[in-house]
Amino acid sequence: MGSLKTSHLDIAYEDRLIVKDLNISIPQGKITALVGANGSGKSTVLKTMARILNPKSGSVLLNGKSIHKQSTREVAKQLAILPQNPTAPEGLTVYELVSYGRFPHQKGFGGLKAEDRQVVEWAIEATRMEEFSDRALEQLSGGQRQRAWIAMALAQETSILFLDEPTTFLDMAHQLEVLQLLEELNADSGRTIVMVVHDLNHAARYAHYMIAIKQGQAVASGSPEEVVTSPVLRDVFGIEADIVTDPRSGVPLCLPYELYRAATGGKVRKSNNDGPEMPPVAASAQ
Ligand SMILES: Nc1ncnc2c1ncn2[C@@H]1O[C@H](COP(=O)(O)OP(=O)(O)OP(=O)(O)O)[C@@H](O)[C@H]1O
Ligand SMILES: [Mg+2]
Repeated sequence: MGSLKTSHLDIAYEDRLIVKDLNISIPQGKITALVGANGSGKSTVLKTMARILNPKSGSVLLNGKSIHKQSTREVAKQLAILPQNPTAPEGLTVYELVSYGRFPHQKGFGGLKAEDRQVVEWAIEATRMEEFSDRALEQLSGGQRQRAWIAMALAQETSILFLDEPTTFLDMAHQLEVLQLLEELNADSGRTIVMVVHDLNHAARYAHYMIAIKQGQAVASGSPEEVVTSPVLRDVFGIEADIVTDPRSGVPLCLPYELYRAATGGKVRKSNNDGPEMPPVAASAQ
């Protein structure tokens, strides 16, 4: 249960094609990291694979069946997603938010059953949110709010979990806490986890499989050793980086040191994202 892949996926916003002919397979029971520059299409791909966005053409296959032909409830029992910028109604408490995660499992009316409440409480404990459980979301810090949303996704108890930048607002200890929790969920119950992360060292350490996205295309995929390499980082992020081996875990560690310069002229090359051209800071400093 839980096989997931895309087949000839094209995704567009109105007329603008963002993803073209994407064919990726998510390894079952593993942690996969999606990496790539800002604006490269990571969130677009994740949302389409979670059935939040419709593709222009092609399909997302969950257990061999097109996800866009299944009902919200059917998909939500199998796949939970923490979007990049989730929003909730004002005044909603942490407990209420996490309870929403039980929606796909509820039958008819009548609210939460004892079993649902147990799962909600487990998710709140797993994300260390017990002391905030009755607090409204807008009265939390950015990191606490992020953990509340992670708890909601956990409460869905799905075999596939998608997280779009789950560690972005967190301090170093809470980043590790979330990543270790995901690692435990994967190891203990074999959940398939797909996360978008910007920290390549976290990706290399916690993911078994990585997919590097550039302009809506998967330009490299494989183990961290295959993806976190100088040529891939030059291509995907437009940076020069040294790769060393982490003495403790043995995974590749990335030491970025400057923007990639084209062979001619010594000018700093435009980075691969959609942003404004980078000023030639590094070039003029020498
Ligand atoms: N709702 C939208 N309508 C139109 N264009 C969009 C919309 N959402 C994203 N885009 C565009 O699609 C492209 C891919 O965006 P996406 O959010 O998938 O990037 P990303 O890789 O997740 O970036 P980031 O690292 O900044 O989160 C960008 O050029 C973005 O401007
Ligand atoms: Mg994004």
